[in-house]
Amino acid sequence: TQTLTILGLESSCDDTAAAVVRQTGDTPAEVLSSVVFGQTELHSAYGGVVPEIAARAHAEKLDICVIEALKEAGVTLKDLDAVAVTAGPGLIGGVMSGVMCAKGIAAATGLPLIGVNHLAGHALTPRLTDGIAFPYLMLLVSGGHCQYLIVRGPEDFTRLGGTIDDAPGEAFDKTARLLGLPQPGGPSVQAEAENGDPKRFRFPRPLLDRPDCNLSFSGLKTALMRMRDQIVAEKGGLTRQDRADLCAGFQAAVVDTLAEKTRRALRLYLDENPASPTVAVAGGVAANTAIRAALQDVCAEAGAEFTAPPLRLCTDNAAMIAYAGLERFRSGARDGLDLTARPRWPL
Ligand code: KG4
Ligand code: ZN
Repeated sequence: TQTLTILGLESSCDDTAAAVVRQTGDTPAEVLSSVVFGQTELHSAYGGVVPEIAARAHAEKLDICVIEALKEAGVTLKDLDAVAVTAGPGLIGGVMSGVMCAKGIAAATGLPLIGVNHLAGHALTPRLTDGIAFPYLMLLVSGGHCQYLIVRGPEDFTRLGGTIDDAPGEAFDKTARLLGLPQPGGPSVQAEAENGDPKRFRFPRPLLDRPDCNLSFSGLKTALMRMRDQIVAEKGGLTRQDRADLCAGFQAAVVDTLAEKTRRALRLYLDENPASPTVAVAGGVAANTAIRAALQDVCAEAGAEFTAPPLRLCTDNAAMIAYAGLERFRSGARDGLDLTARPRWPL
């Protein structure tokens, strides 16, 4: 049995990350280290991630991250079998920083280089954390992504549907901004929603009238803005309770929409794969307890197993990139020093 030790790098959005993952044969893979440097404070004054600032910060932090990840894992470059790096999709300056750093390591050590699709990293994470077998249905929900995927192999994905506009994390972030709550919006909106009445404001459930697995979240933000402006016009401002009720109504709409579309995606998936009734979720929005609970219920209803990786591996990290690289490496994939960074790269 072969032991593989892979270094992974991630820099496609606003987290600079490096990690070392090891696997012997088909025993469970181990995360030896996973270092993440967030950039939230660097962007907080601008109300969103500024690509140029992100790229600069990645370039400054990547080597520090790598040194830290190797040290924490107790390995040196000599112990590695390959270097995996996010080659897209994402903010191109950041992706380039990571790809350049990985190429530098590969060129200096002679290690093979493996380019990894960031979305594949998220989609394969439940195999790293729970060792689940192919195939499975994956719901990827983050600040930048929202899609249903049938995952059949490390490079074999079928997209059943996804958002036609905003990602749900983006909708949470915009909601927080509209209500003057701190970023990232997901956790702050969830916290407010816990004290709110989800029935006081009626938010739309977009696209539920259509039979497919597509979603839309941009209308929720427009609805929220209208409700907020009406309260402000009537009473001169928002009370704490108004804010909590708006958050609760918004979150309930996201929960209902995701639950119903998951029900449909699961039906399609199970028709084809009745012998493998497994659903996994990944991405930062999977941290939301109301969303998790609703998805769990949908799976229980359909007799499917539900898996959600631990939070630190649900949000952007490099362990998922190292692991996806490991799976590609095992299947014989190698990239050369001509590996390119791709801003867009559908699975
Ligand atoms: O996967 P992630 O770390 O980064 C990418 O977007 O790739 O996801 C971050 C997103 C942010 O939009 C954040 O607001 C959202 O995940 N998020 C949440 C929660 N925690 C984080 N959304 C809803 N509820 C949460 N508890
Ligand atoms: Zn991500």
